[in-house]
Amino acid sequence: MLMRSVLVVLLLLAATVCCVPTSAPSSNHSASYEESTLRILDVATQRMRTIWNMSKSIFLQLTSKGKSPLGGQAPSKHEVEMETYRLVYELAANLSVVPVEQLRDPVLRRRVQRLAKLQLQGLRPEAYEQAKDLLRDMQNYISGSLVCTSDDCSARRPLAMYPQIYQRNMRSKRYEELKLNWYSWRSAINEKNHAKNTFIDYVRLLRIAATYNGHVTPSRTWYLNYDTENFQAEMEEVIWEIMPLYREMHAFLRHSAILAYPKANFKDDGAISAPVMDQMLSQAWYPHQIFQTPYPKDQLPSVHNRLEQVLVTPVKINKKAAEFFESLGLNHMSDNFYERYSRRMNDDEGSADCKSQVYYFPPDVALRYCPKLDYKKMMQIHGIMAELQYNIYKRELPFGLDTEPCPGFGAALGETAVLASGTPRHLHKLKILINDSLTEPQLLNRLFRMGVHTLLAVPQYFINDKFLVDVMDGRIGVQDYNCAFWRLQDKYAGVQPPIWRSAKDFDVDYKFYRGMQPDKSNTRKFISEILGFQFYRSFCLASGQYKPGNPSYPLHNCDFHDSKEAGTLLRDMMKLGATKHWRDIMQIGTGERKLSGRGILEYFAPLFTWLKERNMQLDIEPGWDADDLCRKE
Ligand SMILES: *[C@@H]1O[C@H](CO)[C@@H](O)[C@H](O)[C@H]1NC(C)=O
Ligand SMILES: *[C@@H]1O[C@H](CO)[C@@H](O)[C@H](O)[C@H]1NC(C)=O
Ligand SMILES: *[C@@H]1O[C@H](CO)[C@@H](O)[C@H](O)[C@H]1NC(C)=O
Ligand SMILES: *[C@@H]1O[C@H](CO)[C@@H](O)[C@H](O)[C@H]1NC(C)=O
Repeated sequence: MLMRSVLVVLLLLAATVCCVPTSAPSSNHSASYEESTLRILDVATQRMRTIWNMSKSIFLQLTSKGKSPLGGQAPSKHEVEMETYRLVYELAANLSVVPVEQLRDPVLRRRVQRLAKLQLQGLRPEAYEQAKDLLRDMQNYISGSLVCTSDDCSARRPLAMYPQIYQRNMRSKRYEELKLNWYSWRSAINEKNHAKNTFIDYVRLLRIAATYNGHVTPSRTWYLNYDTENFQAEMEEVIWEIMPLYREMHAFLRHSAILAYPKANFKDDGAISAPVMDQMLSQAWYPHQIFQTPYPKDQLPSVHNRLEQVLVTPVKINKKAAEFFESLGLNHMSDNFYERYSRRMNDDEGSADCKSQVYYFPPDVALRYCPKLDYKKMMQIHGIMAELQYNIYKRELPFGLDTEPCPGFGAALGETAVLASGTPRHLHKLKILINDSLTEPQLLNRLFRMGVHTLLAVPQYFINDKFLVDVMDGRIGVQDYNCAFWRLQDKYAGVQPPIWRSAKDFDVDYKFYRGMQPDKSNTRKFISEILGFQFYRSFCLASGQYKPGNPSYPLHNCDFHDSKEAGTLLRDMMKLGATKHWRDIMQIGTGERKLSGRGILEYFAPLFTWLKERNMQLDIEPGWDADDLCRKE
């Protein structure tokens, strides 16, 4: 900070000394500012190219079975990350002295504005290292073997929250076990206040990063590229917009939970116990779930066998997904891409969380794909292909604007293809389903599971995000962290701790810690879901595959495959990268400039109707008036 302000002063001095008389045409200042700024950016771009080269050699090394294709050892991911940090840190300092308002070229102005402000990467090297250490600690809460769920830990290796405890909870039929696991993980990581103090230290660093940007309110830096005064309020509006639907879903699930765990004595008017909520969310697509689906006897058609027969290999799935985008008129994935830049992950990497990875090293983009062959992976790969397409368009843009306009925007574009590819209509096109629509009961079962997957998750992303930001901005004091967290759970989600808690505990869940990484933030997840449904609705309308009021073309069965109209919207947004404000870009695709819950509400409309009727029949009152189970002292 000091260094940068000194530079600013020097430059201002230099400007006044060298460039008087001020009556000279200001266009000359602009020209010379533009020139020197471009020089800085050109040098930076060169450095970025060497970093891309490093990524490329990592990709090649990882996919060449140990042989080093370029000779020598490929750099490590850590080196790439540190080089990137050094580059963006120096560059931000150099650009922070550029008088942005003097630049006439709007694209250049935007490049400078975006590259001059950073989040964690704006921290000085020691502080940045410290932030990385804290993130590693928090990551270890999730995947470290830390938890003894029985009294005797010596007999058995401790378990990790993810995936071990997560999977146990998913399969469990005993509330006592869920409760014990819930409690054990929290006491293990917060022994001697460890988790809470780690969080406090991390927030301190986030605040410092914000002061470097000149932001008085630290959340402005957390929400940097959303570039909106009080962005939180806009997200909250969406939460209230979808709340009527959430409450019906919540009421129905609470009823299921009471039936599933009769011995737990849940109150019928209350919130849902946190471990049960977590369990239900994890069971969205699990066949032995504890909740009831609307029509338990009407199984969804099994697509697994047909999928294997039709798509045969992961490569074939990839090509199908690529073809989805080609059908929209987007880029054709060349043979060169498949031969050189599309590689299968090693089998030992394909564990619980086998996620395909996209690499960006312009002029090339690359893919390491998960070799699993199932319905879920088939849908996911459509999101991955969207990311590849996005990279192919973005690489034409100058460095600094060759990214999404705000975090989650790209994932939201990908979400549209994920949604479309999973519809009965699309599966019918692929000859995986005989019919292009489901029976009414099957359709409601499918929407219900989609609802568990989406509607339960969205308020949790919001709560996690709000808690972090309210702490960061000082709206929640240290003494009140835990009870404030439970008040948010109560207000926005109807979720309650399973036992009495106090201000000494620190009960955030593992997804909260995961979201501390700026590139996996809960904000990003929230945006990708909400915007994703908004984009989907818009592409579906454009393609004529969604016709409001026409029962043959409901939003939830819309497949915009083959639609050049939808493709044009998608491409026009992708091509812009970050050259414009995300609202301007979203307007191109949707005609809207704000986040809205409309996509979600229209998608789930038949489920909403069904839930309202069913809850009425069962005499279930939606909503909650739960006891406060967190003591402040
Ligand atoms: C303004 O800049 C142009 C070239 O960019 C130069 O030819 C001209 O002499 C400059 N005028 C003044 C007043 O500095
Ligand atoms: C990147 O690698 C290519 C080929 O390996 C090489 O020709 C090029 O000069 C490298 N670029 C930079 C900026 O290091
Ligand atoms: C920043 O400016 C310094 C001093 O002019 C220069 O040495 C360095 O290469 C620049 N770095 C970047 C990334 O612009
Ligand atoms: C396909 O749909 C038709 C008409 O709705 C129905 O009669 C038939 O049973 C369905 N077939 C299957 C396999 O679901």
